[in-house]
Amino acid sequence: MHPTAEEIFGELIARRGSPPIIGGVVIHSLIGAGGMGAVFMGTHLRLHIPVAAKFMFGQEQDDAARFIDEATLAARVNHPNVVRVYDVNKEDGFLYIVQEYVEGQSAERYFQDSFAGKPVTEDFVLSLGADVARGLAAMHAESFLHLDIKPTNIMVAKRDGGCKILDLGLSRRFTPGSTLSQEQGGVIHQHLGGTPGYASPEQLQQLPVGPASDVYSLGVTMFELLAARRAHVADSWSTAVVQQSVNELPDIRPLRPDISPATAGLVARCTRINPDLRFQSALELLSCIVDATQARMAPPPAVGGAPRAAALGGALSPAAGADGSAFSRPSAPAVFCVDDDQALGAVLARILGEAGCSVQTFTDGMLALKAMQQEAPDVVILDVEMPGMTGLDICRIMRSLERLRHIPVVFLTEETAPAKMSLALHEGATDYLFKSVEPADLVARVRCLARITQAQRELEGLQQQFGQFRKRLAALVGKDSV
Ligand SMILES: Nc1ncnc2c1ncn2[C@@H]1O[C@H](COP(=O)(O)OP(=O)(O)O)[C@@H](O)[C@H]1O
Ligand SMILES: [Mg+2]
Repeated sequence: MHPTAEEIFGELIARRGSPPIIGGVVIHSLIGAGGMGAVFMGTHLRLHIPVAAKFMFGQEQDDAARFIDEATLAARVNHPNVVRVYDVNKEDGFLYIVQEYVEGQSAERYFQDSFAGKPVTEDFVLSLGADVARGLAAMHAESFLHLDIKPTNIMVAKRDGGCKILDLGLSRRFTPGSTLSQEQGGVIHQHLGGTPGYASPEQLQQLPVGPASDVYSLGVTMFELLAARRAHVADSWSTAVVQQSVNELPDIRPLRPDISPATAGLVARCTRINPDLRFQSALELLSCIVDATQARMAPPPAVGGAPRAAALGGALSPAAGADGSAFSRPSAPAVFCVDDDQALGAVLARILGEAGCSVQTFTDGMLALKAMQQEAPDVVILDVEMPGMTGLDICRIMRSLERLRHIPVVFLTEETAPAKMSLALHEGATDYLFKSVEPADLVARVRCLARITQAQRELEGLQQQFGQFRKRLAALVGKDSV
């Protein structure tokens, strides 16, 4: 019988004082206990950061040496989705590991919530799956298998909902590209077992294991969170071996009809009995989760018009906005400011940037024109007098170029002479403002002009597509034109 978490705490106080200090860490309170040890929240005395100190229950000599060895290797994994190992030690009869403290709740709490009738969303499970897959990929890249992925070993951080893999106590080295035999060195490691219900069938049967074993355990975890029920109800090793090696997990959709076929499919593929039928790596699983997430974010296909548009070669369909309407949501106005006064350019960039515009500033007219040719902005703001190419020159050149002809040009100047203003308007300026203009006034005008440019571009796109549509229609009815 190993000591309980409370007994470990009592022992710590007896030997190290109250509050106990060990390995430069002040131990505050118990935060969790599992099969392997008791986890306490503490503060690192020199670094002034909260830490989680895990004290191991059983401390057979061999176990201790192996534990320290494995923790040393686990410390090499430096990834935001894997709890960071700071230290490991055997001191005063205690074997402990000091890790990053994750403020939040374990995924088991979310399972309990869904079990109690508050189902977790598909988006939450996909995000958890993606985080854990990223963490696993980092571990696998360091030649580690976790071998004990399950809800209690995943923390959901309070700060941002990001997930971290905990409890590297069972993790084992393996050679990438091969599988890990449990009989390495002629010794059968019973420790490789993991947890019945989550350990992969090959792990339970003491067959060689590889990255697909961790993929299996993550799949079971995702299944449970979505289905709000345990995937396998096995209370012993022997029943787990039989159950998990014979019965494939049921299709999740009858249990959770609202989830997408993509998510149901990827959970099913993670949990196949035959490891060859699963995702072969955490990265392969991750890419599938990303696809499923993106498919959920994509707008639904336009109702009604889609089949006809398809019959016409899809000529009309892509022009429509996300909601099927002709006009899509405008993007951030792209504004180019050309002024030889760099400081003024910076002020303009700040004012317009704060108003949601994407701003580029130039002090040289030639460079500005080059950039405009590449990426036609929605609005151009020009100073009138500049060394070399003046604002009037830039405006004249813009009006002579097909791509830049219709872009609104606002002159922003100290030049108040009426003749200059009419000259600028004659050269094709859209607006003429003095540098004393109120920022709000400038922003309002720029936004208004950007909206016109964007609407004009949309209209041009629709006209083009209408031309294609007429051609296709003519081809369908066998005439030269309709
Ligand atoms: N770094 C940590 N930060 C916050 N809580 C933790 C941390 N490590 C463990 N815990 C809590 O303690 C519980 C048991 O920790 P774990 O390392 O899984 O121990 P065991 O090996 O005994 O299962 C976890 O489910 C979690 O609630
Ligand atoms: Mg655990």
